[in-house]
Amino acid sequence: MTKEEVLKIFKEKFGNDSPEVYTSPGRVNLIGEHTDYNGSFVFPGAIDKGMIAAIRFNGTDKVRAYAIDLDESSEFGLNEEDLPKEGWAKYIFGVCREIIKRGGTVKAFDTVFAGDVPLGAGMSSSAALESTYAFALNDMLNLGIDKFELARIGQSTEHNYVGVMCGIMDQFASIFGKKGHLIRLDTKTMEYEYFPFDPEGYKLVLLDTLVKHELASSAYNARRASCENAAATIGKHHPEVKFLRDASMEMLDEVKDEISEEDYMRAKYVIEETQRVIEVSNALERGDYEFVGQKMYETHHGMSKLYEVSCEELDFLNYVAKEHGVTGSRVMGGGFGGCTINLVKDELYDSFIADAKKQYKEKFGTEPKVYDVVISDGARKL
Ligand code: GLA
Repeated sequence: MTKEEVLKIFKEKFGNDSPEVYTSPGRVNLIGEHTDYNGSFVFPGAIDKGMIAAIRFNGTDKVRAYAIDLDESSEFGLNEEDLPKEGWAKYIFGVCREIIKRGGTVKAFDTVFAGDVPLGAGMSSSAALESTYAFALNDMLNLGIDKFELARIGQSTEHNYVGVMCGIMDQFASIFGKKGHLIRLDTKTMEYEYFPFDPEGYKLVLLDTLVKHELASSAYNARRASCENAAATIGKHHPEVKFLRDASMEMLDEVKDEISEEDYMRAKYVIEETQRVIEVSNALERGDYEFVGQKMYETHHGMSKLYEVSCEELDFLNYVAKEHGVTGSRVMGGGFGGCTINLVKDELYDSFIADAKKQYKEKFGTEPKVYDVVISDGARKL
């Protein structure tokens, strides 16, 4: 939706045509999945799809919000007990509360918003929503919150008002995104580096299974708990290990009998994935995309067999990609449905997309959705 369209709807709803307009993107992640809550590396980039919101302070003590895509309204105060009942409004409320908890004064506002990040596709529509409001309120109220803290405000919103114990990757990418660049983030030190990403001769494309499994958030939280348990057990023998990022496979093997088989598998995946991200960074520097692709397949295998966050539909799309000779393919984001991210040679692109659509439709009765990835800028005022 364009700025003009959002402004028009704001005027219809609230009779005023001078709100501010902000936008924040969703993200892709080249590699480094489920590593961000293990103190490890991720490799995301912001995309050209996101949320857009018009916002204007209303001089009352109630936020009045309208979700354009859902045609739903919500009205809520800014005290802790005012938690709105609409799922989407909890994100806006949570951002306000997290700013207030950090000492910021938030004034009530009228707002309308819309988005084109597909919901539940693993492209971080929720982080896009959080970042839009965190960035906007900070800017409009001159709160002076730095960009890292804006990302943490979104993350804390997930933890405290949505119940997903996510890492920092999605909100970070949504705030820090830069056109044409992926970002390698070290989630332990929060050091980051922009990597120009314009792989000549290849395209990055997402295939959306259109599947979103229930209980994804409790399964996500369970994965995190497994990792923390494995890290804490290793830490008893090796006090320097605080996160799985600090652990080696030898260390994990030492505690094999002290943790469950399941926790062992989760931790093994994370330790291997950490290594893969480092190798992919080096490969990107020398422009070796075939190597990058090979690592993507390895990640998929680990996410499917060890971390167990894939599903039949994602595994099938991954299989079709491999059969078709696609350079790299894997489930992207938290998993349990959503998209595969595929690194495809230009000359294979058309035939791969046609093949994937055909085969997926034969097996599951619907075609996957296709999104070309355009790496774009992060949160901003329009
Ligand atoms: C979700 C979370 C992120 C990250 C990914 C998996 O997108 O929000 O913090 O853990 O899953 O890499």
